Amino acid sequence: MIERDIVIGNARLILADSYKVLPTLGWVDAIVTDPPYEFRAEGGGMYRAERKSMDQILDEGLSDGFDHSIINPLLCGSVVVFCHNDQLPKILPYLDGSFERQAVCIWRKKNPQPVANKHYRPVMEFYVHAWNRGHHPHGTLDELDRMIVAMSPRGEAKFGHATVKPDAVMDKIIRNVAPGTICDPFMGTGSTGVAALKAGRRFIGIENNPAHFDTAVGRIREVTSALAVAA
Ligand SMILES: C[S@@+](CC[C@H](N)C(=O)[O-])C[C@H]1O[C@@H](n2cnc3c(N)ncnc32)[C@H](O)[C@@H]1O
Repeated sequence: MIERDIVIGNARLILADSYKVLPTLGWVDAIVTDPPYEFRAEGGGMYRAERKSMDQILDEGLSDGFDHSIINPLLCGSVVVFCHNDQLPKILPYLDGSFERQAVCIWRKKNPQPVANKHYRPVMEFYVHAWNRGHHPHGTLDELDRMIVAMSPRGEAKFGHATVKPDAVMDKIIRNVAPGTICDPFMGTGSTGVAALKAGRRFIGIENNPAHFDTAVGRIREVTSALAVAA
């Protein structure tokens, strides 16, 4: 079931199917995750040929959505979950019925794709923060803003992944998550883990794609070493 299980400093990284492994880990304080979105990645009109990342999204099943039941309110204090515009009508009722409160927050992109395709320009990505009693959002008044404006990663900062989240967005999210261990069951290249470790948190990441898992291991090793040197 678990193909690799590595401990690096305050992080545990697991190469496996998170639907099988996450329920076996027991309680975690918070799940912070960017699961496969559910949206139409086909088409794209005259700009499609320039949007290679959409082909990667289709090839890797990153537009197939995810099973909401992996977010179990009995096994975590809070959750931050990214989702596509098209998923909000389904995910909000699920979280509303599971957690005590929730807030829809926004990453406003400074450099959105120059497309609209008979829709709105994709300038926003949504994430929902839902929490149970005692696990409410943390931070100063400024830090509790519901929106962050940041660039989409470009070039090497994409780590060969089609949907990497920017450091600035992940740092902001981790500042808002109540203290304790953070788990990302759809770890990708480890962006949640990097932010969690920088903030002095413990981190558990699960990823089922070996190439992205290796990238995450490299990023987590790098940040762990940098933090040790700085200490
Ligand atoms: C949207 S990406 C996350 C990207 C990440 N936020 C980053 O910055 O690198 C979702 C990831 O979940 C992984 N994934 C999809 N299904 C999975 C499963 N059942 N178990 C573990 N990982 C899975 C995919 O391989 C993909 O890398």
